[in-house]
Amino acid sequence: LESIFTQHPEAEKPAPLRPRKGVIIGAGQVGLACAYSILIQDCFDELILQDINQDKVEGEVMDLIHGMPFITPTALKVGTVADVGQGADLVIITAGAAQKPGESRLNLVERNIAIFKSILSDVVKHCPNAILLIVSNPVDIMTYATLKITGFPSSRVIGSGTVLDTARFRYQLAQRMQVDPRSVHAYIIGEHGDSEVALWSTANVGGRKLIDHSWESLSTSEQDELASIFNQVKNAAYEIIQRKGYTAYAIGLVVTDIIKAIMRSQERILTVSSLVNGPYGIHDVCLGWPTVLNEKGILKTVNLKLSKAEEEQLCHSAQVLQQVFQQLNF
Ligand code: 2OP
Repeated sequence: LESIFTQHPEAEKPAPLRPRKGVIIGAGQVGLACAYSILIQDCFDELILQDINQDKVEGEVMDLIHGMPFITPTALKVGTVADVGQGADLVIITAGAAQKPGESRLNLVERNIAIFKSILSDVVKHCPNAILLIVSNPVDIMTYATLKITGFPSSRVIGSGTVLDTARFRYQLAQRMQVDPRSVHAYIIGEHGDSEVALWSTANVGGRKLIDHSWESLSTSEQDELASIFNQVKNAAYEIIQRKGYTAYAIGLVVTDIIKAIMRSQERILTVSSLVNGPYGIHDVCLGWPTVLNEKGILKTVNLKLSKAEEEQLCHSAQVLQQVFQQLNF
């Protein structure tokens, strides 16, 4: 095919740009939903999919590659952090056991810690400067364990946290108020799980707070309405897993949003999970918190002003997570 072109005699070779490289470890339903969303939103120049099931991951990559003519192409490869993934900018970990119907996220912890220990030694060795994005559940515990196992600076160990819960919260509120979810400013923080906390006191839309005074000043029916919205958010994963066995599409979009904030240094505020040390007497635990992300990972966190009830719920959430970790044979 070379005869099709005449090379320009004075053509200059472009200076090589450093490719933006990402690795996804774990090509299950979540890893693949992440891969698909990452590809169509053009987050990396090179994306590597790593999985213990070689045939399966090869088939998935072949399937995804055939879509390249429809998107901005990414060099998509099967491989590992130890070979083609070496020196990656971002390593996304979705590997591990997933919840069965009715099972809580915290129940997965022993199995997933063992899997992480086996995965992370290669990550440390071959991607020492990478930012790590943890997605496997229970995500806050897995983020904390990753911090301990790798010894990476805490600004580079980030969990998907309550970004998905925050999205579910905004969606539910937006539905009730008939506005675009992006115009609803409300956060879920704490554990990505049963003890998560809705920040009602600061939730607002169009410059108007959803609760004018305090929760206590609301009528019983108003409290019931808001409690029902929060319960739908908190129990969303249980409801989905009961019906289809897993959740994937929304977390795929969440992970892509976090990656864009990092790779494009957007300085966006997302409720990712990371090491919290200090506010409200909370120490040495990873949980979801409004956090500014840039190309180096975590830049800064918001100094929240919580109501008394929110503070108590958050401290409880931190305790739940700390207790789970303390009971582990780590
Ligand atoms: C979710 O919330 C299961 O953590 C997963 O969809």
